[in-house]
Amino acid sequence: MEALAYLFVYSLLLSLLRSSITLDTITPSQPIRDGDTLVSADRSFQLGFFSPASSKSRYMGIWYLVSSEVVVWVANRDIPLNDHSGVLRITYEGVLVLLNSTNSTVWSSNTSRTPEIPVAQLLDTGNLVVKDGNFDDPGNFLWQSFDHPCDTLLPEMKLGKNLVTGLERFLSSWKSIEDPTLGVFSIRIDPRGLPQLLSMEGAAIKFRAGPWNGLSFSGYPLRPNSIYNSTFVLNENEVYYENRLLNNSVFSRLVLNPSGLVERFTWIDRRQSWQRFLTAQFDQCENYAFCGAYATCNPDNSPICACFEGFEPKSERNWNSNDWSDGCVRRTPLECNDGDGFLKWTKLKLPDTSSSWFNKTTNLKECEGLCLKNCSCTAYSNLDVRGEGSGCLLWFGNLTDIRVFSEGGQELYLKLANSELDRIEKKKQPSKIKQASIIGSVILVTGIIILGVIAYILKNRLHSKGMSKRIDKKDWDNEGWNEDMELPIFDLTAIANATDNFSSNNQLGEGGFGPVYKGTLDGQVIAVKRLSKNSGQGSKEFKSEVQSIARLQHRNLVKLLGCCIQEDEKMLVYEYMPNKSLDFFIFDQTKSKLLDWHTRMNIIGGIARGLLYLHEDSRLRIIHRDLKASNILLDNNMNSKISDFGLARSFGGDEVECMTNRIVGTYGYMSPEYAVHGQYSVKSDVFSFGVLVLEIVSGKKNKGFCNPDHNLNLLGHAWRLWVEDRPMGLVDESVGESITQSEVLRCIQVGLLCVQHNPEDRPNMSSVVLMLSSESSLHKPRQPGFYTDSRKTDYSSSEHATYSANEISTTWFEPR
Ligand SMILES: *[C@@H]1O[C@H](CO)[C@@H](O)[C@H](O)[C@H]1NC(C)=O
Ligand SMILES: *[C@@H]1O[C@H](CO)[C@@H](O)[C@H](O)[C@H]1NC(C)=O
Ligand SMILES: *[C@@H]1O[C@H](CO)[C@@H](O)[C@H](O)[C@H]1NC(C)=O
Ligand SMILES: *[C@@H]1O[C@H](CO)[C@@H](O)[C@H](O)[C@H]1NC(C)=O
Ligand SMILES: *[C@@H]1O[C@H](CO)[C@@H](O)[C@H](O)[C@H]1NC(C)=O
Ligand SMILES: *[C@@H]1O[C@H](CO)[C@@H](O)[C@H](O)[C@H]1NC(C)=O
Ligand SMILES: *[C@@H]1O[C@H](CO)[C@@H](O)[C@H](O)[C@H]1NC(C)=O
Ligand SMILES: *[C@@H]1O[C@H](CO)[C@@H](O)[C@H](O)[C@H]1NC(C)=O
Repeated sequence: MEALAYLFVYSLLLSLLRSSITLDTITPSQPIRDGDTLVSADRSFQLGFFSPASSKSRYMGIWYLVSSEVVVWVANRDIPLNDHSGVLRITYEGVLVLLNSTNSTVWSSNTSRTPEIPVAQLLDTGNLVVKDGNFDDPGNFLWQSFDHPCDTLLPEMKLGKNLVTGLERFLSSWKSIEDPTLGVFSIRIDPRGLPQLLSMEGAAIKFRAGPWNGLSFSGYPLRPNSIYNSTFVLNENEVYYENRLLNNSVFSRLVLNPSGLVERFTWIDRRQSWQRFLTAQFDQCENYAFCGAYATCNPDNSPICACFEGFEPKSERNWNSNDWSDGCVRRTPLECNDGDGFLKWTKLKLPDTSSSWFNKTTNLKECEGLCLKNCSCTAYSNLDVRGEGSGCLLWFGNLTDIRVFSEGGQELYLKLANSELDRIEKKKQPSKIKQASIIGSVILVTGIIILGVIAYILKNRLHSKGMSKRIDKKDWDNEGWNEDMELPIFDLTAIANATDNFSSNNQLGEGGFGPVYKGTLDGQVIAVKRLSKNSGQGSKEFKSEVQSIARLQHRNLVKLLGCCIQEDEKMLVYEYMPNKSLDFFIFDQTKSKLLDWHTRMNIIGGIARGLLYLHEDSRLRIIHRDLKASNILLDNNMNSKISDFGLARSFGGDEVECMTNRIVGTYGYMSPEYAVHGQYSVKSDVFSFGVLVLEIVSGKKNKGFCNPDHNLNLLGHAWRLWVEDRPMGLVDESVGESITQSEVLRCIQVGLLCVQHNPEDRPNMSSVVLMLSSESSLHKPRQPGFYTDSRKTDYSSSEHATYSANEISTTWFEPR
């Protein structure tokens, strides 16, 4: 008995001892067993056996030594081992083989020649290579894992195709976080025509980053950064993209995750964690060929698709019902030869280049000639945008997948029949008489403006002598004021004049911390938020708001134009939103008819992207904390913009959840954990977002929701309809016939997922954005938090609540 126990302890010790073997090379006499590892010389990467997440299957892979959960490469991704008996050997022929307990080969590499001394080694780059130990021939490996990427692109790894051997290196997603099996998503370079980077789902193109223009991919502008640089190589032997670290002591990786999202992470040594460096932003225009042929996509416009000039929708009916996939057709056919000319477009993502032709040395003038000569050529452009631009790119056939950027983008010369060009010219050119009168009035107006400016300067000299235009910096320094903030400071008298001395006629509404006025300053319409002097917390929130917003720039956030701090006054000056706020529309019986389904969907998408930016992509990472319908403003085109960051708090990258004992927010939008325990996290914003989505779909307020059948609030009502399998019952009648049922159902489901009781169950905003824009299947929602009507408590004496967390009992929201 005792002997047996000793034997057991002995074998345990033996296995413990075994697991500590760490090698720097694999040779025929020195295999790697499950438990052993191989490390790179600089100890960045490690190779060994692992089980992903909660899976029991064993895989051989490579991971970061500092962060072993991040696996960058898997050998046997499709054939897992089901026990700990795996062995990785190198044969005398120089082939790596992974054997299971019955010595069957589960996975193997191959080789082009037989080495004299076969050695496998893990390089500092994370590349597992097989080489001949007899020759030191760097770069000339018999086999390397970098030729067979999985879901991660490491620096110095090539993404592309060897045009001589046909070897294609592409990223492919895992099936799920616990299953490295080949998933449906891939990122690859399509070598047809001018090679371009594509994101695919199965065989379908999901997103086209486009061809390389010398600086970046045409549809995916890369900003220069301090971590890595990018190179694109295209010659007769190979085409590839790669990036290199500027400082090798930093880790950076690009991952295609199981849901098809491309993310770059950088290791922050100080925090011992990965920071998301960039996430591809999603909007409808990124869906491949969303607007069909000969149309441009511009997410800032409504509708977002537009035909090129000289073209008209192929099917007027589909186009008007927002199905743009048919695209546009020429109004006048091309004449060929001398009967055609070109119209120049700027700020574009170049069309799909899969049927294009290029020449690096041809100049733009020759390029035009070549395009004119060939009847099937439809457009041309420069190949490389660096400097003056160089090279020639010609398109043959349909032009698809074109978007308009608000800045950057490229030029495209589109071929049109001369008669069509004349027509466009005529439409643009006013008649001679009109021209003359326009010139006259321009001179007149300029004169008036100059006089006005002089008068204004004189007046300011007289009235506000020595008034500084900049904040005195010492006021802010101890608050950690950011030096790079260049926010205009407005003068109190100027703002008083602009708003007619804060007249009640100009008041737009009352925000959380004071009234908001409309005004006109230097000809620009503005909205001024005047913080109440007695708001108590005003000063602190004010600084927070100014600091936050000044640094945040996003299409779906309201733009801060400046501020004003003088005497007791604190004011914020915003761009004016002519369409006021969302609550103005959705809760109003007549105005809600103006919001058809497409517009509502666009509003929801905008809020989601704005919030994603706040949470993950902005430099600060912000939790809004008071997301509600009246804080969503609408611009001329009914695009949604998030406003009011007075309650926003910046939170550090690894600070997931925070506690506060002053709860500020609005009933009906607060998550249970926040209202009751004062715990806020990004997931509290996700909750508020969910409430907003359900409000937008239903046209009903969550707070104060009434239904004769029950005393549930809107969330409870939506949940009940969902459980009873009649979710469409939630939809606002005012939406009318414009409805797209699949989208509505998806929105309701996403809304319910966001308001789930348990914060961990709620998705984060990047998943929300993805869920809203894809057609993948969604999780089943669980019961929402706060689903009875909170009005039946005494706490709602004022809409805007400020109270201490421990004043509330947890029985508050429990179902009766
Ligand atoms: C597998 O191969 C090893 C070494 O060649 C040998 O010792 C072992 O007995 C083999 N096992 C089986 C099950 O064949
Ligand atoms: C080993 O691999 C072979 C071939 O893949 C398979 O048939 C066999 O069942 C595996 N043995 C075990 C114990 O998994
Ligand atoms: C390596 O394996 C691949 C696929 O299994 C095969 O296409 C290729 O020809 C092999 N190369 C050599 C040199 O054996
Ligand atoms: C990128 O950085 C690497 C390493 O610092 C450098 O060798 C290379 O020349 C750079 N390439 C470009 C295109 O700037
Ligand atoms: C590279 O990064 C390390 C650690 O962050 C730093 O100590 C070192 O100075 C950097 N080297 C260069 C050349 O910037
Ligand atoms: C590209 O253009 C240059 C000069 O315009 C010409 O010499 C060369 O043959 C062209 N290359 C191809 C592939 O047509
Ligand atoms: C026009 O270009 C296409 C595509 O390169 C080519 O197939 C065709 O022969 C050309 N036609 C003429 C008249 O050059
Ligand atoms: C061009 O687009 C039209 C309609 O969008 C389509 O019918 C046609 O097949 C396309 N032609 C090519 C060559 O792709």
